[in-house]
Amino acid sequence: MIDLNSDPAVMTYILGRPATPDETAAEWRRRLDHQSDAGRGLGYWAGFVAGSFVGWWSASSFDGRPDTSGIGYRLRASSHGRGLATEGAEAMVRQAFSCRDIDRVVASTMAANAGSRRVLEKVGMTQHASWAASPDRRRVPGWERGEVAYELSRAEWTDRTPDLE
Ligand SMILES: CC(C)(COP(=O)(O)OP(=O)(O)OC[C@H]1O[C@@H](n2cnc3c(N)ncnc32)[C@H](O)[C@@H]1OP(=O)(O)O)[C@@H](O)C(=O)NCCC(=O)NCCS
Repeated sequence: MIDLNSDPAVMTYILGRPATPDETAAEWRRRLDHQSDAGRGLGYWAGFVAGSFVGWWSASSFDGRPDTSGIGYRLRASSHGRGLATEGAEAMVRQAFSCRDIDRVVASTMAANAGSRRVLEKVGMTQHASWAASPDRRRVPGWERGEVAYELSRAEWTDRTPDLE
């Protein structure tokens, strides 16, 4: 994760600069302590192609929001543009809804992150909110466009993929 987060191309729309090892350690403490619930099948997955780590995907939990799961992904630059983010995000949506008490999946990204927005759209999520970027995003190109949130309800997902429910 430290190696992944040290690539400026990977971090362009996250911090606008590489993360330090301490920042990455803090990020993963937060993700594992507050956004993972292995007992419910919610959390983070590492992806491998032919034995090589290509990135991570999430169907995460939220403290205090038992009906909601968060979809996320961060791939190595050498693995971009091969459909892997979409393939993994679809698996994450399925994983989240395999948890019976999850009613919606949500995700947020920078408005300028066209690749990430396209992945969310391809898995059936729609934009439902936007807000001004927080100050720690001011190094991200296009930060002025703010952040956007997407969501997909269980009912919408069932309509979209009736054979999978
Ligand atoms: C954003 C990211 C996940 C996309 O991963 P990917 O594996 O290249 O995505 P896919 O190959 O599944 O492509 C999905 C769609 O997005 C489009 N896309 C991908 N990168 C794009 C870009 N930079 N600009 C515009 N569209 C892009 C693809 O063309 C495809 O759409 P299409 O099928 O209509 O052609 C990847 O670039 C990444 O991990 N970036 C760094 C971390 C990051 O920004 N994570 C998201 C934080 S919210």
